[in-house]
Amino acid sequence: MAYQEHGDVDSPPVVLIHGFPFSHKMWEHQVLALAARYRVITYDLRGLGESLDETNHFTLEILVDDLLGLLDHLQIRKAAMVGFSMGGYIALRAMERESTRFSMLVLADTQSAADSDEAKLKRTKALRSLQQAGIDVYGDEFLKSAISSATLETKRSLVANLKSMISSNSMAGLRGALFAMMSRTDTTQSLSSIKVPTLVVVGSEDRITPVAQSEILKKSIPNARLALIAESGHMSNLENPEAFNSALLSS
Ligand code: MLT
Repeated sequence: MAYQEHGDVDSPPVVLIHGFPFSHKMWEHQVLALAARYRVITYDLRGLGESLDETNHFTLEILVDDLLGLLDHLQIRKAAMVGFSMGGYIALRAMERESTRFSMLVLADTQSAADSDEAKLKRTKALRSLQQAGIDVYGDEFLKSAISSATLETKRSLVANLKSMISSNSMAGLRGALFAMMSRTDTTQSLSSIKVPTLVVVGSEDRITPVAQSEILKKSIPNARLALIAESGHMSNLENPEAFNSALLSS
C-alpha cells in the first residue's frame, strides 16, 4: 500500500481518505493547509493510485481493514479522519467498527446510504463503459457529472489534473473499486451513535452525492455541523479549496 506522511510526526494525526476514481493526489491543497499543525497521512486505496491488489476483488470491508492496518503500522492509536465520497463510505464503516480509533470526523461530499437498485444499475453501466470505451472516455464522462459546468469550462489545469489522476489508475483497480462501492452496507442506522465532533462538507452543486444526503448526515449525527461549499460540484476540496480549507481548519 502506498502512503505518504507530511508535517511533524509528533503533531496530532489526521488521515485523509480519497474518493473514486482518484488517488491521494486529490488532497494536495489540504495537505498544504494542514501540515503546519498536523501529522497528515494520505494513502492510495487498494487498487487505485500506486496501491496494488493482486486480485482486484475486494470489498469496502477490506478497505476498512486497510485503513485500520495503516494506522496500526504507523502506531497511531487515534486519528482525526477526513473521508471524501468513497473515502466517506470507508470512514463511516470504520466508525461503526472501531469508533475509539478516531477523534474527529470530516465527511466530504459523501452519504451513508448504500447503492439503491438504480445506483447499482448505474455502476453496471460504468463497468460496461470502462470496458468498452476505455478509461479516458469513461473519465471524461465521469468528470462531466462530478464537477460543476463552470469548473469544467474555466479551470483547465484542474480538469487536466483530474483526468491525469483518473487515467493513471488501472482498469482492473477501477472495476474492483466499483464492485466494492456497489456492495457496501448502509451506515445510516449508526449515525446517531457517532460521538466525535463531526463536520459535513458538500459542494452546493454536487450531483453525485447531493446536498440532501449531507443534510441527512448533519441531522442524524449528534451536534454535526454542515458547511456548504459555494461554486462547487462534487469535487469541493479541489473546485473551491479556499472555502473547503477554511471549513476544515475551523473543525
Ligand atoms: C467518489 O467520488 O468517490 C464516487 O464517485 C462516489 C460514488 O460513485 O458513489
